[in-house]
Amino acid sequence: MSTVSLSTENDIAIITIDNPPINATSHGIRQGIVTALDQIDADPAIKVAILICAGKTFIAGADVSEFGKPPMDPILPDVIKRLETTLKPVIAAIHGHALGGGLEVALGCHYRIADKGAKLGLPEVNLGLIPGAGGTVRLPRLVPVKDAVTMITGGKPVSANRANEIGLLDAVCHGDLRDAALDFARTVMDRPRPIELLRQSPVDVPNGDQWEEIEATVRKKARGQIAPMIAVQAIQCGIEQGASEGLTHEREKFVVLRDSDQSKALRHIFFAERSVGKLPELSGVAPRPLHEIGVIGGGIMGAGIATAALLAGYAVVMIERDDDACERGIANVRHHLGGSLKRGLIDQTKHDHLLGDLISSTDYAALANCDLVIEAVFEDMSVKHDVFGKLSQHCKSDAVLASNTSYLDINDIAAQCAHPERVIGLHFFSPAHVMKLLEVVRTDQADATTLATAMQFARKLGKIAVPCGVCDGFIGNRIMSAYRKQCEYMLEDGALPHQIDNAMVKFGFPMGLFAMQDMAGLEISWATRKRLAPFRDPSERYVALGDYLCEMDRFGKKNGLGWYRYDENGKAHPDPDVDALVIAESEKKGITRRDFTDAEIMDNILDAMRREGDAILAKGIAMNADAIDVVMVNGYGFPRHKGGPMFLTQKS
Ligand code: NAI
Repeated sequence: MSTVSLSTENDIAIITIDNPPINATSHGIRQGIVTALDQIDADPAIKVAILICAGKTFIAGADVSEFGKPPMDPILPDVIKRLETTLKPVIAAIHGHALGGGLEVALGCHYRIADKGAKLGLPEVNLGLIPGAGGTVRLPRLVPVKDAVTMITGGKPVSANRANEIGLLDAVCHGDLRDAALDFARTVMDRPRPIELLRQSPVDVPNGDQWEEIEATVRKKARGQIAPMIAVQAIQCGIEQGASEGLTHEREKFVVLRDSDQSKALRHIFFAERSVGKLPELSGVAPRPLHEIGVIGGGIMGAGIATAALLAGYAVVMIERDDDACERGIANVRHHLGGSLKRGLIDQTKHDHLLGDLISSTDYAALANCDLVIEAVFEDMSVKHDVFGKLSQHCKSDAVLASNTSYLDINDIAAQCAHPERVIGLHFFSPAHVMKLLEVVRTDQADATTLATAMQFARKLGKIAVPCGVCDGFIGNRIMSAYRKQCEYMLEDGALPHQIDNAMVKFGFPMGLFAMQDMAGLEISWATRKRLAPFRDPSERYVALGDYLCEMDRFGKKNGLGWYRYDENGKAHPDPDVDALVIAESEKKGITRRDFTDAEIMDNILDAMRREGDAILAKGIAMNADAIDVVMVNGYGFPRHKGGPMFLTQKS
């Protein structure tokens, strides 16, 4: 039941919002706040008020059930105005999250204090929106404009400490929040109420050049998303044309954005990410408890997976081939944890503690206590069989055994194990401790407990787990192989690598396909192609350009030459030698080259993605089209604001 209650402690009023789970600003809550404020203003005994929330959090967002319905009075902007003009000072006491409308409510209060663990943010841009209840106008009147721009256009919440540094908070509390709020109330009750933020001047307004710089930075980061740029304009309007004009402008833009294709796409992917891991068949299935995780291989992926598991609080045993490799594996994890320390994600004590939770060994017997073991050795079936043979021998009888293979048949791996029902695929993305996506590959024989355990593990690691079936490349790599082929055909038919990459970047990918291949290194896929050559269908069109590059010792960015030529700073430049190679290949095959527009290039790529996506759905590899979108957006750089290939192509 959603309630707003009003109580008093001597001359202090306490408004408590109780609307689990996130204390959303639903209609009853908005109405309740206004009623409470009317009572506070009418009661001469009350000198000051506290606005606090019950449960796990302050107001952390809007009521999704009201989305798309006509707004019911009082609407949030009016509630916040009412709050701001209350005759007595109102203190927001924040714990958990103050997000979106929640932070805007706090900005309508005259003071803000927060628990040390609180997070405060305006994440509307993540849904293709801008704040719609005064956030773009009030925030720059409380914190320096540059910080307001960062919060509003980036959408990332800030910690209580950071909020305090920039002036968003009046105090950070380390003990009981209610007690701290009461203490704080006593210190301000006899002071005149501060004037409303709307009547204050913006803080540290940038000059013309600085605005240009800000706009350029936001535009670059937004990569084609419109909401961050519109947010900058809204902030500017509120500063240059005054608060009242700013509020009107903000609301207008908010309404336009709410109906935009980008916002629809972002909302689609937001909900898809939240539903993709929910498997009805697992309801009531208890996952196995996990304490100790084994990781086989300490290379690129093994070290990343080990780091992710350590950060999630597990003890990790890493197995490598020899002592040198063990040392390299540990050094790789140390490097990743060092990065987390540097970025302030963990402190020194935690860093040291996590390293203490890692051991490495060449002896598989060290895995005796592991509840889950993830293999990340070379992509070679005979090596994988050998490893899984040893795992069957040394692991506990109920341990879950997982492979991180990119392409190999996990059913085949499972079939060789003593307990195929406990074998599953956990396909991480590089860098594994950073990338959110995890494909959970269901082998034919995996049982429900194994699947539930894998899903639970993924959640603990903070990953978006997408269940999928066994096939060559699962969901993501299979779709990538399909559109890579399409891109290679376009090379032979008349396009050049940098032209295709430019079209992809313009569309919103962080980098194009060929630049990405250069970054990953060309020799691994070359080796795979050579291995698969005897099995290739001779009637299928085959583009050998990637092979030629490797034959010329052009292995990608790491040796300065690949599809591009790299300068001493690692910057890619189109290489006339590669262009000549591409053109010569068309001639050799008797293909008359033709021009491609950027739009044609993207249409071809999207068609290839769609076709392969449909094939994957027909085979039951992905549960639904949403799962494919989640994979492509979170693992392959597909622009989030376009919603994913299935969403985008279904509309057109
Ligand atoms: P890597 O070459 O960096 O690391 C492999 C490690 O396994 C090496 O350190 C090697 O010493 C060790 N190793 C080999 N045989 C072993 C054995 N019998 N016992 C113990 N350790 C052994 O390779 P990377 O890139 O980490 O790939 C590992 C697996 O992850 C492959 O199956 C690959 O397809 C898959 N994968 C790779 C991704 C990537 O972006 N690199 C992404 C997703 C999956």
